[in-house]
Amino acid sequence: MNRIIELKDVSTIYEGEKKPAIKNIDLSISENEFVYVIGPNACGKTTLLETIIGLLQPSQGEVYVLGCNMRKNGAKIRQKIGYVPQDFLTDPNEPFTALDVVMMGMFGKIGLLRKVNDEHKYKALKIMEKLGIRELANSPIGKLSGGQQQKVMIARALAKEPKILLLDEPFSNLDIKSKQKILRLIHKFHQEKGLTTIIVTHEISQVLMNKDNARIIIMNEGRIVAEKTIEEFLLSVKEYLWLPQVKMIK
Ligand SMILES: Nc1ncnc2c1ncn2[C@@H]1O[C@H](COP(=O)(O)OP(=O)(O)OP(=O)(O)O)[C@@H](O)[C@H]1O
Ligand SMILES: [Mg+2]
Repeated sequence: MNRIIELKDVSTIYEGEKKPAIKNIDLSISENEFVYVIGPNACGKTTLLETIIGLLQPSQGEVYVLGCNMRKNGAKIRQKIGYVPQDFLTDPNEPFTALDVVMMGMFGKIGLLRKVNDEHKYKALKIMEKLGIRELANSPIGKLSGGQQQKVMIARALAKEPKILLLDEPFSNLDIKSKQKILRLIHKFHQEKGLTTIIVTHEISQVLMNKDNARIIIMNEGRIVAEKTIEEFLLSVKEYLWLPQVKMIK
């Protein structure tokens, strides 16, 4: 199968820090894989995602996405990646509407001023409808609740029609019903569009509800400590009681 994301002995150190936030990561993700990344706070999940998309440069090792080295091709490849960052809450005075923000997924912020036509609007509204936020289209983004903004950010990532979807804690602000609905929708997009999807989450119960072919990557202290299918994880769940989230569901 085609390897779409490949990390070779990657470590990333934040500027001014001595210790790497992620260490000696070897990771290979195939086209159309669905991957969850779990692990305690500060174990390096966000750093891993940001290193994959080239927002952070590794201090050691190489990252290849869609066959390209991210050191040289980061900007080009990022156009094919839909990314929902963990911390996205917008300024309450941000002038853009929710619909504008979703359309930014198609063109970026500047393109929005030049390129939008009715067809683009229709497409963005359709995605918003699927996420249950159609009626928020004309609301200023900064005035929406955390959960509503989270759905808008997911809609923006999907509107980009990416090849790769990276979501950092996409359920953190959502109520239980929304979590299930959005995860189902992400799965549907993943299947229909042949995406490669990585979700960082503390919501193990959501993960385990999907007995699909997903892979779970478990991180601790900057390293990948295990990789399991959901079935394997369930069979060996006793080994993972040190994960705060697993303790909670036991
Ligand atoms: N901008 C930064 N500068 C310096 N250190 C940072 C920075 N961002 C994160 N770190 C450190 O890097 C380590 C990994 O952080 P990271 O945000 O990747 O963890 P995480 O697994 O995403 O945690 P969480 O579950 O809380 O989101 C932590 O020790 C954190 O303090
Ligand atoms: Mg994080």
